[in-house]
Amino acid sequence: MKAIVIENYGEPAELVERDLPVPRPAADEVLVQIKATSVNPIDWKVRRGFMKSQASWKFPVVLGWDLAGVITKVGKNVHDFQVGDEVFARPDGPDLNGDGTRGTYAEYAVVKANQLLLKPAQLSYAQAAAIPLAGLTAWQVLVDRLHVKAGDKVLVQAGAGGVGMFAIQIAKHLGAYVATTASPENTEMLRKLGADEVIDYHQQEITAVLHDYDAVFDTIDQIPAGLAILKPTGRLVTIAGQPTEAQQVAHPSASHWWLQANGTQLKQLAALVEAGELQVVIDSSFPLTAAGLQAAHKLSENGHVHGKIVITTDQ
Ligand SMILES: NC(=O)c1ccc[n+]([C@@H]2O[C@H](COP(=O)([O-])OP(=O)(O)OC[C@H]3O[C@@H](n4cnc5c(N)ncnc54)[C@H](OP(=O)(O)O)[C@@H]3O)[C@@H](O)[C@H]2O)c1
Repeated sequence: MKAIVIENYGEPAELVERDLPVPRPAADEVLVQIKATSVNPIDWKVRRGFMKSQASWKFPVVLGWDLAGVITKVGKNVHDFQVGDEVFARPDGPDLNGDGTRGTYAEYAVVKANQLLLKPAQLSYAQAAAIPLAGLTAWQVLVDRLHVKAGDKVLVQAGAGGVGMFAIQIAKHLGAYVATTASPENTEMLRKLGADEVIDYHQQEITAVLHDYDAVFDTIDQIPAGLAILKPTGRLVTIAGQPTEAQQVAHPSASHWWLQANGTQLKQLAALVEAGELQVVIDSSFPLTAAGLQAAHKLSENGHVHGKIVITTDQ
C-alpha cells in the first residue's frame, strides 16, 4: 500500500512516499481502507523530534491519528462492524515503543473496534476525518475535566484552531458563556459558531478584559494569564503546556490533559453533528502524496490554520 512516512526527524521534506505491507488486523481490530485523514500539530511535532524524550520511534514512522474510510477486514472477535461499513475513528496510531507504521497517512490502517464509529451519512469522509482527535480533545477537556455547565463563563484560547472551533461549539452546547481569542479576521466566523466574545489577542491581553471565569481551556500554553482570569473556584486545563508545581499549589485544578481514544465519546460528538449543533470547519484539503503532506505540514506549522486540514486519498 502507499504510505507517507518519515525515516528521520526533520523538515517537511522528510515526508516521503513508500510502499508498505497492508497491516493485518488483530482479533479485536478491523482493517480500514482510508478515504480521508487529517493533520494535527502533534504530527509535525513528532516529525521535528519534539516527542523524542517520550517515545523511541522505530523508523519508518507513519504519522496520522485520524481516519475515515471503509472496513475491508474484520478481526475474529469483532461483532459490531462488518466489511463495507463506512467508519471513522481516532486510532492508537504509530506505536510509541513498537511498530511505527500504524498511522493514518496511508491507504490502509488497523483500528481497535472500540475506537470506531459508523460515519453519519450526512458527513463526507473529509468531514468525518476532521472530527476525532480535535473533537475528542475538546469534549474531554470541557466535559470530563472542566465540568462546564450551563451559565459558566468559559475562555477557549485559539478559537479558530482545530480544537478551538470544536471547543467553542461544545461549550455553547453545554450552555456556557464563551469568550475566545483569535486574529481579527476570524471574529465574524467565530461569532457565527457561537462565541459570545472574541478577543483580538494581537491588541488586547485577556487579563485586561476577562475576570471571574469559571473555566479556561488553554490551547496555547499561556497558563499564567489563564489562571489570572479565574474566580477562586475556577478551573484551568491545558493541552499545550504543563502547570508548574507552584501553579498547582495555588490552583489545584490546573492540569494538563492528553486525549484518550474513545469510541463512545465519538458517538456523542457525531450525535451533535447530526443534530446540526456541531459544524465541522475545514481549512484546506491535500492529497495523500509526499508533496500533499509536506504542504499540509508547512501550513499547520505556520500556526494560523482555521479549522482542520484534511488529506484525502482520491484527489
Ligand atoms: N494534549 C492533547 O491531547 C492535545 C490534543 C490536541 C491538540 N493539542 C495541542 O493543542 C494545540 C492546539 O491544537 P490545534 O489543533 O487547535 O492547533 P491549530 O489548529 O494548529 O491552531 C491554529 C490556531 O491557533 C491560533 N493561534 C495561534 N497563536 C495564538 C495565540 N497566541 N492566541 C490565540 N490564538 C492563537 C490561530 O489563530 P489566528 O489565525 O486567529 O491567529 C490558529 O487558528 C497544539 O499545540 C496541539 O499540539 C494537544
